Amino acid sequence: MHIEWESQPYASAVTDALIIYLFDKDERLEGMVAELDKLTGGKLKALIESGELTGKPLETVLLHFPAGLSAKRLLLIGAGKPEKFRRADLRRIASVAARYLKGRGAKNIVFLAREGQRSAADAQAVAEGLISGEFESDKYRARKEPVKGIERVSLAGWNAGDRKEIEAAITRGKNIAESQNFGRDLINEPSNYLTPAILAERAQAMARETSLGVEVLDEKRIAELKMGAILGVAQGSAEPPRVIVLTYTPAKERPGAPVLGLIGKAITFDTGGISIKPANGMEKMKYDMGGGGTMLSVMRALALVKPAVKVIAVIMSAENMPGSRAQKPGDVKIAMSGKSIEVINTDAEGRMVLADGITYARQLGATHLIDAATLTGAIEVALGVFNVGAFGQPREYLDRFLAAAKDAGEKMWPMPLDDEYEEGIQSTIADIRNTGSGRGGGAITAAWFLKEFAEEMPWIHLDIAATCWNDDAKPWAAKGPTGIAVRTIVDFAMSL
Ligand code: BES
Ligand code: ZN
Ligand code: ZN
Repeated sequence: MHIEWESQPYASAVTDALIIYLFDKDERLEGMVAELDKLTGGKLKALIESGELTGKPLETVLLHFPAGLSAKRLLLIGAGKPEKFRRADLRRIASVAARYLKGRGAKNIVFLAREGQRSAADAQAVAEGLISGEFESDKYRARKEPVKGIERVSLAGWNAGDRKEIEAAITRGKNIAESQNFGRDLINEPSNYLTPAILAERAQAMARETSLGVEVLDEKRIAELKMGAILGVAQGSAEPPRVIVLTYTPAKERPGAPVLGLIGKAITFDTGGISIKPANGMEKMKYDMGGGGTMLSVMRALALVKPAVKVIAVIMSAENMPGSRAQKPGDVKIAMSGKSIEVINTDAEGRMVLADGITYARQLGATHLIDAATLTGAIEVALGVFNVGAFGQPREYLDRFLAAAKDAGEKMWPMPLDDEYEEGIQSTIADIRNTGSGRGGGAITAAWFLKEFAEEMPWIHLDIAATCWNDDAKPWAAKGPTGIAVRTIVDFAMSL
């Protein structure tokens, strides 16, 4: 999808569809709405009076061959109450427009921004929304008809004087959203098409294309490094584990500058291991590499938007299977850090692979950590499916991260890490155990387990188990991987 700045007045733009969004108070027909109503010979007024057009969020009305416009269609999208309207809503409207129009043969479209939403950041959000909205999950469907994609989008309404800045913002939005979609494609892959070794190859290919540094550690190297926790998880599978290390180095390396370490959980399939999961819904555990997919998206985006900070991503990939060599409940494993772990439940494998990932990122020189993982079912109990569970220390570091999430329009909620929860992971025979005491707070004890490896380093842990996958299609997003947390981590890295 090519996105560009539009110089023509919207009324004379020759296009398959002109998109405009309307607020609920637009029935007063003021400003641009009055102009559009006049151009179309009172169409808007008539639609409002008939009750078809109310401006309620994400309502869509399509007019064909509208009089007074050179566009073949006019797509009106509801924007809700203007006082509640945020940039995240603008992004979502752009996604709705892309999804709605791509299925209706539109190739060239014009998106018209309203007064008040014409900053560079708004243009970036529209570009992100359009590309994110186009994403589809149908790779393995035998195609019966050729795919009709949107080829060209023009953004209209922005100030002519800001053209350069707007074009840069569009490019930034495009880079971020395309990177997000790159990761979403990986998260969608079935586990028979995406083993740890194949994931590593895909990461290497991406790194070559974007000039990121890349190193893949195979099972032999992982053993040499004494990463006993990931090896414990991987030993029940015929598929060997991989640790994927991607490095972004800024043009100017400053001595003493922070180094951001990103750690991703990439379990390409989680059967639960010997503590096997129920059959119902187990097919979804192909997305248990969602944290790793997220970090691959982030690294691809960073390679393109080029922040001033050095970033090292450590993606921990294994398959959790109940093979004859699988680890068993009660086994004790020695993590890379030297800490011993009593494996109470082999289904709590994510925290084990992350433990070694955190240790390794620190060894590689990271001074600040962020991990992302589909870590616990408990996070859905705590927060539902609308907020990422965000843990972190110190509080100021977490607050800075949450501010970035707010700006990026990704909902994240701070979770507690009080000392009292540590009790839940005490083991009688080892340093720690891999599950909590069973008295609730499962997402918190999982985070506490990770904290044992981050120790006092500034660290954010994102539990995306409930947010990285849409169980149902939405008007703005396909069913499947959401791409959550990518924009926030990219923004945060840009601000470091
Ligand atoms: N991959 C799962 C968590 C998960 C659940 C992700 C649902 C996405 C959707 C994780 O490895 C797991 O199984 N966690 C266990 C931990 C328990 C054994 C302490 C869980 O949440 O039940
Ligand atoms: Zn599990
Ligand atoms: Zn898992």
